[in-house]
Amino acid sequence: MSLTIKPILPRFGAELSGVDITRPLDEPARAAIIRAQNLYGVTVWRATGLTDESHIAFSRIFGHVELAPRLPGRLYRHAHRELFDASNLDADGNILQDEMLLLHKRGDRLWHTDSSFMDLRSAQSLLLCHEAPPAGGETWFADTRSAYEDLPQAMKERIEHLQVRHSLWWSRRRAGFPLSEEEIDARPHARHPLVHVHAGSGRKALYVAAHARDIVGLPREEGRALLAELIEFATQPQYVFNVSYRPGDMVIWDNLCSMHRGSDYDEVHQRRDMRRTTIREAAAPAVPDDPFTELFLASGRTP
Ligand SMILES: [Fe+2]
Repeated sequence: MSLTIKPILPRFGAELSGVDITRPLDEPARAAIIRAQNLYGVTVWRATGLTDESHIAFSRIFGHVELAPRLPGRLYRHAHRELFDASNLDADGNILQDEMLLLHKRGDRLWHTDSSFMDLRSAQSLLLCHEAPPAGGETWFADTRSAYEDLPQAMKERIEHLQVRHSLWWSRRRAGFPLSEEEIDARPHARHPLVHVHAGSGRKALYVAAHARDIVGLPREEGRALLAELIEFATQPQYVFNVSYRPGDMVIWDNLCSMHRGSDYDEVHQRRDMRRTTIREAAAPAVPDDPFTELFLASGRTP
């Protein structure tokens, strides 16, 4: 069968079907999926039938699959290092009750791009639903290419060469996690251009969102006000849509041309089991590396 593409917004988001992604793909199918992903930025696959193993195997068509962090003394639910646990479950599969961990995860309710706090940026995230709550828990997506294109010319010129500092701990603080500005200052930051060319499409995009802490060379408050203005602009109704999940559904978003945020649900009573693989923007390293673990170890106290 050939790939069927059903756009969600005219310039952003599409539902894809017609290809069995649980099996190895031939070159034309692989190329068609990558082309659709580059064109639409976010793609939705329903009832995929993917397992942990076939989820990881399919992810590799996009490039190097990142390893999730492993911290000493902590237990993890998944044996596969390629799976980031985006659930509300502990290592035994029970609903998390640890308030600090819940608070840490609550930062994902802010508009963000995965891993923008890393020097090595992430491109695609592939989020597969294993269990969904009966209500809530959708993911919202925002189109940072079209938003950039629609900005007034004066704003495009103002932001063209700006650099942004990103910190995971800044978005956690904004979600209520108890960290001072000074404590965040002492932890790792990454620095990225505010505007970049999205390699897969050749279109320019904003690269902002919740981890973006300040703008290099601008007073902190002025930089934050500009970041907030751009995020507000890019999340207007014409740039956003949401996806709700049933088990087996998967969404693939390109962090380099979109933002996303989770929606509320009854997280202390209802299970939501989502597992994510993430593709690094850069090519696979020559030797195995583990930058997420390194970042958390360099950050000191974590939830
Ligand atoms: Fe995310």
